Amino acid sequence: SATQLVDRFGRKVEYIRLSVTDRCDFRCVYCMAEEMQFLPRSEVLSLEELYLVARAFVELGVNKIRLTGGEPLVRRGILTLVEQLGQLPAELLITTNGSQLSGMAADLKRLGVDRLNISLDSLQPDKFKRLTRTGRLEQVLAGIDAAIAAGFKRIKLNAVVLKGRNDDEVLDLIAFARHKGVDITFIEEMPLGAITEHDRAEVYCSSDELLEMISAEYALIDSDEKTGGPSRYYRMADSDSRIGFISPHSHNFCSECNRVRMTVEGRLLLCLGNEHSMDLRRVIREHPSDIEVLKQHLIQAMELKPEQHHFDLTDETPQIVRFMNMTGG
Ligand code: GTP
Ligand code: 5AD
Ligand code: SF4
Repeated sequence: SATQLVDRFGRKVEYIRLSVTDRCDFRCVYCMAEEMQFLPRSEVLSLEELYLVARAFVELGVNKIRLTGGEPLVRRGILTLVEQLGQLPAELLITTNGSQLSGMAADLKRLGVDRLNISLDSLQPDKFKRLTRTGRLEQVLAGIDAAIAAGFKRIKLNAVVLKGRNDDEVLDLIAFARHKGVDITFIEEMPLGAITEHDRAEVYCSSDELLEMISAEYALIDSDEKTGGPSRYYRMADSDSRIGFISPHSHNFCSECNRVRMTVEGRLLLCLGNEHSMDLRRVIREHPSDIEVLKQHLIQAMELKPEQHHFDLTDETPQIVRFMNMTGG
């Protein structure tokens, strides 16, 4: 059914990213500060509340639900939620760091998850550790294999590329993706939260640079295939793997934005790079289980969606103080 969610710029919202926890077992340097305070339980939406929000969006025409975090698979009871969401008439997708997949991939597949996006920034154990601080490469590689074995198709790897950190691994990551038969997307880091590990302007690595480097190795063919996400995809003649680029700095994609996101506190964020938001937790807790009231608020919230983000890497004070793990990507 056609979406009833349309913003002031005529953009149709058909994609909702639901953060199900701010917690994570990793501490990726571009996502979190080394020391993080996580939310107390009372501020976090319950699984029932999350399900209600998802249903309201689907009734309004959303056809794509992505669970994010933090790390969505460390949320207690996540499989119960996945089972419910798997029965809604919308695609169900998860973005994960892969750490829990060796134990969970088969269940996720069985319960109706359609696709997985798995973060992978490095194939070198020591570098992987430096970037994720607490992550173990081995565990993630086993997770990727488990996802493939469980029958997931069109798995997408996500790599945030930082100059001088992992930009030398781009071709290795592509070789890995080709070998595994999965897609890979390279992401320009976004300035969310006051991180401590690096200066964001210094490690900025534009997608155009990567494109040039990759083109020296592979003849890239423009692909107009769309997943409904922000990635621009290319193909290679001799592989089914696609190479994508998410380039918030060098190729703004806001005019095609089709998505909103909700934090685990129930704050509906109309844009990743702005603070325009609506407090859905208050609506839900004042009108428990009332899906119609919630739907009215979602329709109204579309008026708040800003035209675009204005990320500025040279800005010393963070424009967006919220960290990515609070935001759900
Ligand atoms: P597909 O459905 O496979 O296309 O996934 P996706 O790219 O939409 O989702 P994923 O969770 O893999 O996100 C990859 C990156 O895109 C993350 O770094 C997100 O923060 C970023 N991203 C997703 N949506 C937006 C957006 O609206 N604005 C910006 N600036 N970044 C976004
Ligand atoms: N900029 C860009 N991407 C980020 N991610 C986390 N933090 C940032 C950031 N500051 C990525 C993760 C994951 C996806 C959900 O978002 O690596 O792949
Ligand atoms: Fe965790 Fe993902 Fe943030 Fe890394 S990027 S710390 S895996 S939420």
